[in-house]
Amino acid sequence: MESEKKTQTAAEQMTDKDLSEQIKKVTKDSHVRAENTELMLSFQRGQVTLPQFKLLLCSMYEVYKALEEEMDRNSNHPGVAPIYFPAELARLEAIEKDLEYFYGQDWREKIVVPAATKRYCHRLRQIGKENPEFLIAHAYTRYLGDLSGGQVLSRIAQKSMGLQGSEGLSFFAFPGVSSPNRFKQLYRSRMNSVELTEEQRNGVLEEAVRAFELNIQVFDDLQKMLLLSVPENQLQTSRTHSTPVKILQ
Ligand code: HEM
Repeated sequence: MESEKKTQTAAEQMTDKDLSEQIKKVTKDSHVRAENTELMLSFQRGQVTLPQFKLLLCSMYEVYKALEEEMDRNSNHPGVAPIYFPAELARLEAIEKDLEYFYGQDWREKIVVPAATKRYCHRLRQIGKENPEFLIAHAYTRYLGDLSGGQVLSRIAQKSMGLQGSEGLSFFAFPGVSSPNRFKQLYRSRMNSVELTEEQRNGVLEEAVRAFELNIQVFDDLQKMLLLSVPENQLQTSRTHSTPVKILQ
């Protein structure tokens, strides 16, 4: 086993009993798999296309709508309150802005999402009703991921799609967070302050693995949609708006 020893700062006195450490550990393999989906590889290679990005935004719209509505509804729940940071983290309005930029004012009628996105949203709504403390796993997976990759991915997306300025890229911008690293540190300490029974903690850890899996399935489904809707020769190079594709069930 590789040594887990790390240099720790005063603000980073985490132990391996901490939820933030456990959740990172149990999702480590899933993170590698998420990074290696075709969609994420396109990002990393600087080859993300406009059709890919627009479809991703549509799915992120549905996912964040479900996540943030459930977080709002449960904002006083003891498992949610400590990690409830709508002013700093909420993504829904930013995504709406981006969708309007790419699809125009009637963007709401043009949203298309695959079945995997519907399953993801269904799960979020279900746990919002039945196990609100599991929302911590989903909020962690999306928001800490966004905060970790945001700036780099934004620049890559801008370059790959030939966008001028930062229009269409609000999803990646966190104007309420001045230092993503310090904020992540605060977020982890808030996660660690949530009181959970052994059973609840195991449930949260399992849910985090599930959250990654749901994301991977969304990315895979989006790639399938693209293969069906965009001629192969346009997949790498398209810089024009694509015709909205048909929904996959
Ligand atoms: C953290 C890279 C995709 C979720 C990170 C970190 C990097 C990274 C460099 C910081 C690690 C650290 O601070 O120790 C990438 C790359 C991706 C990618 C290159 C693909 C382009 C994703 C996806 C998700 C995700 C798709 C989830 C849906 C997370 C989470 C963290 C994280 C939750 C925080 C880990 C923690 O500190 O506990 N990622 N990531 N990432 N990423 Fe990703």
